[in-house]
Formats: sequence, structure tokens, C-alpha cells
Amino acid sequence: TQISLIGAPVDSGQRRLGCLMGPAAYRVAGLATVLTELGYPTTDLGDVTLPPLQPIASPNPAVDQLAETIAWTDALSASVRDVLGQGRLPVIMGGDHSLALGTVAGAAAHAEAAGRPLFVLWLDAHSDFHTPLTTTSGNLHGTPVAYIAGRDGFEQFPPFPAVVPGERICLFGIRSVDAAEHAALHETDIAINDMRVLDERGIVAPLRDFLELVHAQNGMLHVSLDVDFLDPSIAPAVGTTVPGGATFREAHLVCELIHESGLMTSLDLVELNPFLDDRGRTAKLMVDLVGSLMGKKVFDRPTRSFN
Ligand code: ARG
Ligand code: MN
Ligand code: MN
Ligand code: MN
Repeated sequence: TQISLIGAPVDSGQRRLGCLMGPAAYRVAGLATVLTELGYPTTDLGDVTLPPLQPIASPNPAVDQLAETIAWTDALSASVRDVLGQGRLPVIMGGDHSLALGTVAGAAAHAEAAGRPLFVLWLDAHSDFHTPLTTTSGNLHGTPVAYIAGRDGFEQFPPFPAVVPGERICLFGIRSVDAAEHAALHETDIAINDMRVLDERGIVAPLRDFLELVHAQNGMLHVSLDVDFLDPSIAPAVGTTVPGGATFREAHLVCELIHESGLMTSLDLVELNPFLDDRGRTAKLMVDLVGSLMGKKVFDRPTRSFN
């Protein structure tokens, strides 16, 4: 596997400034070095940039920075699709979660051309299932899962290349869902592993269930890791903290299981706000987790849990 790091200093999906410093923080925390030391040839493509934009009005007056978010969607979709087309693994250094509107679109376009189904694992405190018409905060980082799943309301965005059916989407770690999202999720087959489920079953069984599905269908797997998946006590550098998140050990185990599956084909690192960090600890933890995702381990284990 060869890895391409894509800097995505996206700050248009929410109103608290700082996520645009995410790519720089990942570089300072040594992301490329960790990957190189694990043996992966790694290229940093630098930061994606946007041209000057004209504002775009939304039918929902609450919506913030629509033109910027649409432009990021176009740019990041193209760049992820390009990297996947080269047979490389894109790792997107965000940037807020609205960047996934683009990265997953790029992965979906590639998967469709390759004739393989795309699966999406959403590691997050939030379900991000609003549409631009249902959001009351107006923060478009709360919308990418709805776009990926093909909900109406994204008519101003590029059409999503190949809608991902609900049974191929897994929300994992969620503990904050708005009423409109809740109602809409009930109409889908999306796997909802909220904290109630994870407290009862642990993280291993539900994650294995989903990975088995990906494996059985020779799927591509996009993993979208939101910093607020983690408990705020270990990962304070995020604008939307929610108590009761994944512990240090749970998070590493999730990453190790994903690695052992051998299934991940693209990865987002989102919502890191380095301005809120405590001596870089959140950036460092995210880099450590990428290490686990890519095979860093204490002791040798078989690299596949499937036969
Ligand atoms: N549901 C809330 C909203 O729409 C929070 C979204 C948080 N999303 C995130 N990617 N952190 O405003
Ligand atoms: Mn999110
Ligand atoms: Mn979140
Ligand atoms: Mn319910």
C-alpha cells in the first residue's frame, strides 16, 4: 500500500474557527513519519485550496457558507478519486466533517467505476444526518451522511455519484442525534451503533458484524474518524464535545480491528481544532490511532480476521 496525505483545511462546515489548522497540526504531530516507519511509501500532496467564490443562497436561511462547502465538495471529491485511481490509499487531514461530502463522493465515484460496492464506517458522536433543509444550526458538517445516503435537499450540491444504501453505512459511537435526524434515520437501514449498543455489546461484536459484511461483498471501505468519537477527556481539541465517548483503549481496539480486516481503502481525519488543544495531545492521539489503523501493534497478530 502506498499512501497519499491530502491536506483539507476546511472550516466552512461550522462556525468555530480553527479546523483549518488541522492539516498543519497533523504534520507537526508526525503523521507522515509514523506511516513511513510502518513501511508505507507516503506522499504528502499538500493542502487543497479553493479559488475565490461568489456567495450562494440556500432556501434555508440558516445555512452557513454554502458556496465554500460546495466548492470543497467538488475539489476533495476530485482529489480522492484521483488518488484512488492511482491505486493509493488517501488519508484526508481535515478540516471539519463537511469535507466528507467531497471525500466520500470521490470514493463512491471510484468504487462505481471499479465495479465494487462502497461501505462507510462513521466513527462519531453525531449522526450527521441533517440535510441543508433540516439543519437548524446551519452548520453543514452535520450533513454528510444524509448526502452519502442519497437524501433529498442537496440539489445545490453536485449529484452524489453512487448513493450508498443504508445497509452499507455504519454509525458507530453516536450519542447526539437531533430530532429531525432521528426521525429520518428511522426510515433507513443504516446500522446505528449508539453508545447504548456499545455499552451492552462492547465494540468488538458490532464492528465485526459490519466488517464481515464489507468482506463478504468485496467492498471498498471508507472510514470517517471524527475527533468527537473519542471521549473529551482524552481528546479535548474539538468544537462539539459530547461526554461519554470512546476510551483510549476502545479507540485503539477499533483501529486495530479495522487494520486486521485489511478492508480500509480511504480515511478521513476530521474536526480536529488545534486551537483548542492541550499541548498537541489530541493531534498526537489521532496520529497514534492512525498508527493502529495501519498496523502498529504491541505484538504480532495475524493481519486478517477473515478467511
Ligand atoms: N447535529 C448538530 C448540528 O447539526 C451537530 C453536528 C456535529 N457534527 C460534527 N461533524 N461534529 O449542528
Ligand atoms: Mn461528524
Ligand atoms: Mn461529531
Ligand atoms: Mn428511535
